[in-house]
Amino acid sequence: MVMMGNIVMTAVVLLMLLLLGGSGVVVESAIGVNWGTVSNHRLSPSTVVDLLKDNKIQKVKLFDADPDCLRALMGTGIEVMVGVSNDLLATISSSSNAADLWVSQNVSRYLNKGRGGANIKYIAVGNEPFLSSYSGQFQSYVMPAITNLQQSLAKASLAGNVKLVVPCNADAYESSLPSQGAFRPELTQIMTDLVTFLNSNGSPFIVNIYPFLSLYGNSDFPQDYAFFEGTTHSVTDGPNLYYNAFDGNYDTLVAALNKLGFGQMPIVIGEVGWPTDGAIGANVNAARVFNQGLINHVLSNKGTPLRPGQPPMDVYLFGLLDEGAKSVLPGSFERHWGIFSFDGQAKYALNLGTGNGLLRNARDVRYLPSRWCVADPSKDLSGVADHFKLACTVADCTTLNYGGSCNGIGERGNISYAFNSYYQVQKQDFQSCEFDGLGIVTFLNPSMGQCKFLVGVAEEVAIKHVSLGSSLHSGSVVCLLILWGLVI
Ligand SMILES: *[C@@H]1O[C@H](CO)[C@@H](O)[C@H](O)[C@H]1NC(C)=O
Ligand SMILES: *[C@@H]1O[C@H](CO)[C@@H](O)[C@H](O)[C@H]1NC(C)=O
Repeated sequence: MVMMGNIVMTAVVLLMLLLLGGSGVVVESAIGVNWGTVSNHRLSPSTVVDLLKDNKIQKVKLFDADPDCLRALMGTGIEVMVGVSNDLLATISSSSNAADLWVSQNVSRYLNKGRGGANIKYIAVGNEPFLSSYSGQFQSYVMPAITNLQQSLAKASLAGNVKLVVPCNADAYESSLPSQGAFRPELTQIMTDLVTFLNSNGSPFIVNIYPFLSLYGNSDFPQDYAFFEGTTHSVTDGPNLYYNAFDGNYDTLVAALNKLGFGQMPIVIGEVGWPTDGAIGANVNAARVFNQGLINHVLSNKGTPLRPGQPPMDVYLFGLLDEGAKSVLPGSFERHWGIFSFDGQAKYALNLGTGNGLLRNARDVRYLPSRWCVADPSKDLSGVADHFKLACTVADCTTLNYGGSCNGIGERGNISYAFNSYYQVQKQDFQSCEFDGLGIVTFLNPSMGQCKFLVGVAEEVAIKHVSLGSSLHSGSVVCLLILWGLVI
């Protein structure tokens, strides 16, 4: 029975492949992740790479070319996208030497190791460089930077293997109906140049799509349209019906590309996800429902009304881990996008469709000792405001905000939470629980219900440096001093 079923299935799949093959390209979607590292509690890169491997995640997108991350990825076969940050675009656009140097220092040196190298496949030239809120400040650098970097790749004989791409925010295009999609008028020329380059190079268009932000920024946005579970607010666009914001957004891009004459350009989703804390609507259940719905939708190969049977080429979830030191300018949710918390523990049950079942936690994470810093219950806290402010400037307190998991733990709870966050960021240095005598170290976990008082991780990138024989940098010196302090 089982055998028969498999044979029938195989025949059906082969038939489908043949049919699809006749009508165009068969797109095999893959789920990757964004690995950002803006955290006060960084897991060692080798722990993170083990986490990727244990979860059979085959594609990872970085926001820079962090040497520790790239070294840890060497020899794993995991496909990597590295990034040129926006503030390097000006230099690279004006100097072919700078471009050569960037490629040699940040790409070539990790590749030329045969099978033991890093599998760098893409270089992201800038990160959302056309974002409206940047008011065009990076815009003119993008194409010249691409030209220089492409020449550098050619000189290094890498032009065939490593492709340049530009992750764009979905605010690069607009329309009320998907079929009317067009790039913002001031971007028409640059998008034409960019897409012409991408097409000639066989590279995909990369876009970041965030239904959460549409919901968050617009009180009229129908909640269920942000998800994939069906909606009472479907959008009718001529003969097409849209049941979720993601498809509507995706097809707006398809229409915009079509207007430029590149309606068939492959599309990769550079970032998509849902945060779990810090704001109304940002919670573990919504994140699970959104991400699982997205993954199932993409892997069903249904595609969208304008691209039936052609889902995005790759989808990079945002993100792998929480990044507690990110700017909160976009909102208090910004530090809570991870499918794993900062310490590599799965926040919710999620099947990535990699044939691996549900998310697996990071192994062998080394934590600081089980102790916390709280407000001394015997003290009057009326003079605490400045300490609270400082603690929450250095450490993350965004779960205290309205809609967050620690909102509602009371004034004293707030202060304890802030003290502890600061104390953990300071790696539990005993002086960091001083606060003019208002703080006290406790061995009883002060977590209350949903509100978790964290214990930091003891892992340090620096330890890997030593074992690799590289020189120490300031981070490792700090680490050694802290270890030393603990021993005494
Ligand atoms: C390599 O990348 C890092 C971080 O992304 C950057 O700081 C450095 O300047 C780059 N190297 C060169 C030569 O540009
Ligand atoms: C706790 O802090 C949050 C964030 O600063 C604030 O919104 C809330 O009102 C505070 N709660 C009390 C009881 O002070």
